[in-house]
Amino acid sequence: MNIALISKIAAEVGTPFYLYSEQRLRQNFQAFADAVKTLNKATVCFAVKSNFNPTILKILAGMGAGADIVSGAELELALQAGVSANKIVFSGVGKTRTELTAAIQAGIKQINAESESEIRLINDIALELGKTAAVGIRVNPDVDARTHEKITTGKKENKFGIDWNDAYRLFLSAEQFKGVSLHGIEVHVGSQILDLEPFREAFVKTKKMLTALKDKGVLLQTVDVGGGLGVAYKADESAPSPADYIAVLQDVFGDFDGEFVFEPGRCLSGDAGALIASVVRVKQTDEKSFAVLDAGMNDLVRPAMYDAYHTISALKDGKASRTYDVVGPICESADIFGKDRVLPELDEGDLVAIETAGAYGATMASNYNGRPLAAEVLLDGNRYAVIRRRQTVAEMMGLCQPAPWV
Ligand SMILES: Cc1ncc(COP(=O)(O)O)c(C=O)c1O
Repeated sequence: MNIALISKIAAEVGTPFYLYSEQRLRQNFQAFADAVKTLNKATVCFAVKSNFNPTILKILAGMGAGADIVSGAELELALQAGVSANKIVFSGVGKTRTELTAAIQAGIKQINAESESEIRLINDIALELGKTAAVGIRVNPDVDARTHEKITTGKKENKFGIDWNDAYRLFLSAEQFKGVSLHGIEVHVGSQILDLEPFREAFVKTKKMLTALKDKGVLLQTVDVGGGLGVAYKADESAPSPADYIAVLQDVFGDFDGEFVFEPGRCLSGDAGALIASVVRVKQTDEKSFAVLDAGMNDLVRPAMYDAYHTISALKDGKASRTYDVVGPICESADIFGKDRVLPELDEGDLVAIETAGAYGATMASNYNGRPLAAEVLLDGNRYAVIRRRQTVAEMMGLCQPAPWV
């Protein structure tokens, strides 16, 4: 990290802020795009939920990325960023009539339906609009992704997807849905997956479904394998490359001549971002040394919510010689970024970087404890731009209005 440059940005923008590397983002997307070139036909749809800053979306859209969306607002963001509708896929268990109508009107690539009643609603809306909606069924593969339980999505007890047997029955009776072209299958088992085996298990099950349907004369055109490829949050961790992951896919699907869709989020945006914060206080107790930052769990909730580990570096020279619990200022004991981190001696005003915060950082932020949303800055070599300025208190409270009787 270029400490002098980051210090300059911090002096200008204030802390905390998210800092994104355009170069790393581009490299990550390129690696994925290169890996899928070995396939017959593939679309890489960036999971907008991991980072929805319009500039980030525009960079990826410019490189040919599609978008994986989960709300009507994400649909608008993707379209505004220049993603063409025929590269947008839409997942989520609770899509509303309004959201589905917007997606069908826009003519997106595929709505991944997560229940039979959703398919019926899509069918009704499409018939009302005089259109045919392209639909995939998100199946629940009952595969354990071996990741944190709160980011596991493909087990039977999870709310996501349609049970295999029900999906099979729906594919075979697709004729009943006159407004729907039921031509795809989606399987997403979870997030931050570092072991390729759960992917293989899900692919094998999906392949079996394709074969069973083919035997009945039903040919699916699209296999959407979701996202989930993890990143290394710890120095001693390693994540499979997109090429390793695609090799497993090819091994399982071999001769499938339809189109593959991918929904990677974290492995594109995660290590392209860091949360930069200042030390506001160094607090010594009998038990611990605490480095209290001006960033809190409202800016990066992953450690508090998922017990997630993020590497923390002090942006100063010096030997790592002191052990700190690095915490935020929020009135919650869960507001801890890292325990027992060995860092150079910290002073008030020093800068620290909480690394790999480009995914599920800014998008999961809140105003808890009356804290305006942090700024986002894009770095490209030596040039940088604020791509979202810090929220003001007036903006934070701008939607409130008094009750007439108070
Ligand atoms: C349906 C779906 N697709 C894609 C993703 C993106 O996952 P990741 O960021 O782990 O690649 C998620 C996130 O959980 C998801 O739920």
